[in-house]
Amino acid sequence: MIELNIVKLKPDIYWVGGIDWNIRNFHGYLTQRGTTYNAYLIIDNKITLVESVKHYLFDEMLSRIKELIDPSKIDYIISNHVEMDHSGSIPKLLEICKNAKVITSTRGEKGLKRHFKRNLNLRIVKSGDTLNIGKRTLHFVEIPMVHWPDSMVTYIPSDKLLIPNDAFGQHIASSERFDDQIEWGILREEAAKYYANIVMPYGNQVEKALDALSKLDIDMIAPSHGIIWRSFIPNILKEYTKWARYETDDKALIVYDSMWGSTEKIAYSLREGIEEEGIPVTMRNLKTTHISDIITEVISSKLILLGSPTLNNTMLPSMGGFLTYLKGLRPKNRVGHVFGSYGWGGQAVGEIEKILKDLSWDIPFESINLNYIPDKEELLDVRKKGKKLGKYIKK
Ligand code: FEO
Repeated sequence: MIELNIVKLKPDIYWVGGIDWNIRNFHGYLTQRGTTYNAYLIIDNKITLVESVKHYLFDEMLSRIKELIDPSKIDYIISNHVEMDHSGSIPKLLEICKNAKVITSTRGEKGLKRHFKRNLNLRIVKSGDTLNIGKRTLHFVEIPMVHWPDSMVTYIPSDKLLIPNDAFGQHIASSERFDDQIEWGILREEAAKYYANIVMPYGNQVEKALDALSKLDIDMIAPSHGIIWRSFIPNILKEYTKWARYETDDKALIVYDSMWGSTEKIAYSLREGIEEEGIPVTMRNLKTTHISDIITEVISSKLILLGSPTLNNTMLPSMGGFLTYLKGLRPKNRVGHVFGSYGWGGQAVGEIEKILKDLSWDIPFESINLNYIPDKEELLDVRKKGKKLGKYIKK
């Protein structure tokens, strides 16, 4: 059953998207609150749909559109971003509104053609181009690599409305559509998780996009996932500016896995030492925490410690998987430290250290690599190392 929760954003502008209540894995990202794919219908002389939804929510979107207009009357479909969670329904929609023109960027054209393998009735726009649809004129600004090459925003000056696709999104499925209907703590956490897992590699491009968007008069930001910003716009812009600059807080994150408990003992002693310096520490065991949640902690932590024992001459697969993910997301300006335990060989620590060096992290102290089970004195030394690290990041 489809609940028709159509929401008016502005006069004649409606949310008609789809709610994915049960999705828990979004290409590997743990979406514990589900998500939405937001589509916006603008009823003007030319009827315009901005974005569409993931293919399996097409009927849900269509039902919402039907409550407002005859979908065959849609004149324009704006595709701000090719990724299939937003474009997946375009072919089905074009079977209904056969004469609709799809508006996209140059890179969007390439992407849509590669995905759909058919000729589409396209109009290509670039930054600064406009499209008059009657009472309104839509403006387009390309924001390449936030987070795909084709990414673009649609801005409607007369309504002070920005539709920026994935930027400012969060994976939250809810009946509520606006930021003042959901707790800020939840919004911030999900926006941070979204940024960390999707946007983090592109900080420089985000800064450029924020600069371009700062010139616009905006009182509503309607992203393609989650809730629409209208009351907390300064708050989310402030967070984005901080994340784009790779700014962190004076806090530590310890990410580890352990076979027989030795590496875990080291992790806990490090924590005690760091805390002695008044630095808050978050412990994350790779056995119990999903990597997409650990990455959320990475965006705000200045000091990141990584620990693994050596197994078969290398690190544990859980740490290998986490580091592959971390390498791709490329967090900058972090202080790193590596620790582990071993029976013989002990290669894990060196391998982890190499990856942190490749990320150009500051590694001020020698790694900890202890044989079999650490004794009291060794753990005392580890604690002292933790204290040194805590002091170091307070400099
Ligand atoms: Fe929500 Fe990049 O797609």
